[in-house]
Amino acid sequence: MIGYPTNRSRRLRRTEALRRQVAETRLHPVSFVLPLFVVPGRGVSNPIASMPGHSQLSVDELIPVVKEAATAGVGGVILFGIPAVKDETGSGAWDPSGPVPTAIRAIKDQVGEINVWADVCLCEYTSHGHCGVLDGEIVDNDRSLPLLAQAATAYAEAGADVIAPSDMMDGRVAAIRGALDASGHTEHAICSYSAKYASAYYGPFREAAGSAPAFGDRRTHQMDPPNLREALVEVTLDLAEGADMVMVKPAGPYLDVVAAVRRQTDVPVVAYQVSGEFSMIEAAAERGWVDGASIMLESLTSIARAGASITLTYFATRAARALQES
Ligand code: PBG
Ligand code: ZN
Repeated sequence: MIGYPTNRSRRLRRTEALRRQVAETRLHPVSFVLPLFVVPGRGVSNPIASMPGHSQLSVDELIPVVKEAATAGVGGVILFGIPAVKDETGSGAWDPSGPVPTAIRAIKDQVGEINVWADVCLCEYTSHGHCGVLDGEIVDNDRSLPLLAQAATAYAEAGADVIAPSDMMDGRVAAIRGALDASGHTEHAICSYSAKYASAYYGPFREAAGSAPAFGDRRTHQMDPPNLREALVEVTLDLAEGADMVMVKPAGPYLDVVAAVRRQTDVPVVAYQVSGEFSMIEAAAERGWVDGASIMLESLTSIARAGASITLTYFATRAARALQES
C-alpha cells in the first residue's frame, strides 16, 4: 500500500542539503546567454530606461561587460547591432565594419572562452523597422532571404560561433546554411528562432534596439500566440533546412511550447526570456512587490524544467553570480 502515514513526501524536503540533492533541475551558468546591444563609436554607454542594468554599448565599453560575463561562467553572449544609418534594405546588417562584426572580432581577440552568437534580422537596420525588405507595405519574404544570408555570412566571417536568425521568413535557414557553406563557413552553427511568437513582451527590446516598425506589426511572419502544434511544424521545417538548434521565444509565457519542442527533437532546445519578462520582474522588484533575486532564479529554473538546454536571459551575469555564491 502506498500512502500516508508510511509515505511522507516531506522527508525529502526537510533540509536544504536534502532538497538540493534531490533537485530534478539544476541551473548552471554555462547554459546562459547574455543579450547585448552594440552601437558605433567609442566610449558610448546609453542606459536603456526600461531595462535596468542594461545599456547600448560601443565595442570598447562592451568588452568589459563580456569579460564580466565570462568570469561569472556565462556560456555565451548574443549580439544585436544598432547601425549609424538605417536604410530601406537594411544594408548596415552586412557591413563588415558595422558594430556587430567589429564586436565579434574584438570579443574573439580579447576574451577567451565564451561563445559568440549573432542575431540575424533586418529590423534594427531598416529605416521602416521591418524584419525584411518591403513590397508596398508587405514584408517580401523571398527578396529578404539573400539579404539575411549576406548578414549571416558577414557575422560568420567575423568569427561568430552561432548564427541566430530571428526574422521568421520562410526558408531563411536553408538560405543562410547555403550561403555559409558556399563561402566556406561550414563549421558555423545555426540556432533558428523557430517558434518566435508575435508578442507584446518584446516592448522594451524595441526601445533598446530602436527597431519598432514604423507602421503595422509583425503578425504576418511571427507566430500567432494561440498556436502550439504550428510551433512543431516550424521546428520540423527548420531542422530539415539545416538548423543545429531551435529556439522558443518568449520563454516564461510559452513553457508548454518549450516542453513540446523538447519532446519532439533531440537537438538542443533554446529558450529566450525576453525583454518584457525581464522588465516586469525588475519593475515589480523595484517597487518592493516581489523578491527580484528569488524570482530571477525561479523563472530560470522553470524554463530549464520545461526542457530548455540553453536560456537567453538579461539576468545571465547576475544569475551566474548568484549560482556561484549558493
Ligand atoms: C528582432 C528581434 C526581436 C527580439 C529579438 N530579435 C524583436 C522583435 O521581433 O521585434 C526580441 C528580444 C527581446 O524582447 O528581448 N527580430
Ligand atoms: Zn526583426
